[in-house]
Amino acid sequence: MEDQLRSIETEALEAVEKAQDKEAIEGVKVRFLGRKGVLTSILKGLGKLPREERPRIGKLANEVKVQIERAIKARLKILEKTAGPRLIKGFDPTLPGRSLPLGHSHPITQILDEVCSVFERLGFSAAQGPEIELDFYNFEALNIPPDHPARDMQDTFYVDDKVLLRTHTSPIQVRTMELMKPPIRIIAPGKVYRCDSDITHTPMFHQVEGLMVDEHVSFAHLKGILTHFAQEIFHKDTKVRFRPSFFPFTEPSAEIDIQCVICKGDGCRVCSQTGWLEVLGAGLVHPQVFRHVGIDPEKYSGFAFGLGIERIAMLKYGINDIRLFYDNDMRFLDQF
Ligand code: PHE
Repeated sequence: MEDQLRSIETEALEAVEKAQDKEAIEGVKVRFLGRKGVLTSILKGLGKLPREERPRIGKLANEVKVQIERAIKARLKILEKTAGPRLIKGFDPTLPGRSLPLGHSHPITQILDEVCSVFERLGFSAAQGPEIELDFYNFEALNIPPDHPARDMQDTFYVDDKVLLRTHTSPIQVRTMELMKPPIRIIAPGKVYRCDSDITHTPMFHQVEGLMVDEHVSFAHLKGILTHFAQEIFHKDTKVRFRPSFFPFTEPSAEIDIQCVICKGDGCRVCSQTGWLEVLGAGLVHPQVFRHVGIDPEKYSGFAFGLGIERIAMLKYGINDIRLFYDNDMRFLDQF
């Protein structure tokens, strides 16, 4: 009996040492210490032994049991350390981390940056002006007489008689020419305000103004630069059309259309079957505007243009309701 117990002990300790994972240890435990295990059956059989042998064998069997249990405990500890982090309860450090949601700039800001960078590559630098503007810069200095329809209360948010929210970025032309002498080549991006709201108008929207003043600046320069711009923003084959128009601060004036981005000129609902989409207002700087800022119109000439960023974004992305840009619905914004 004694020998049997000794060999069980050796066998069990060897098996524990060989076990490479928790499951194997569990197997050893069941085999030797389980209810039907080898050691258990010996302990159960103690009763059949002669009386005088029982205490000694019983004690020995208990010692063997304790040895095996100790070995199992020690082996488990080692396995937890070496078998890698997967054994640590409920935590697996080898899984990839959860990434933080990354934001991006608003689609309007993206187009604004893109438009500005096209002109910056052509040598234009950025200028700024206040959004709360004097009537003088927004209208008067731009040759917009007091009875001009653009001054109608319907369109302009007035703060008081002389102060208003600028209705376009053109006042920056005047402010720039007051400060700089030609040659001038600037673009001026910014927010503008008009009392208007429907699916193609919001009370606040964005414009980019352009101004170039030097000796011998002609309409041909304007045409070349705006054609290049349209082809950079839309498609390198985009056709551009200049239509005669009127602005009090440019003469001659033009409205500039691009070939419809949807139907490529065939005519569709977006372009009202014309094949063309209006994207810009422009013209040669009116001599009267030059006189207001003390630039000699006999010596210098220049062109100016203004474009609406929301309109460009709508055409570029095929969006039919301008208000989507300002609802702050993440399902919409996340697409850009
Ligand atoms: N300021 C004009 C507008 O808002 C656009 C424009 C700018 C036209 C410069 C000509 C020259 O409609």
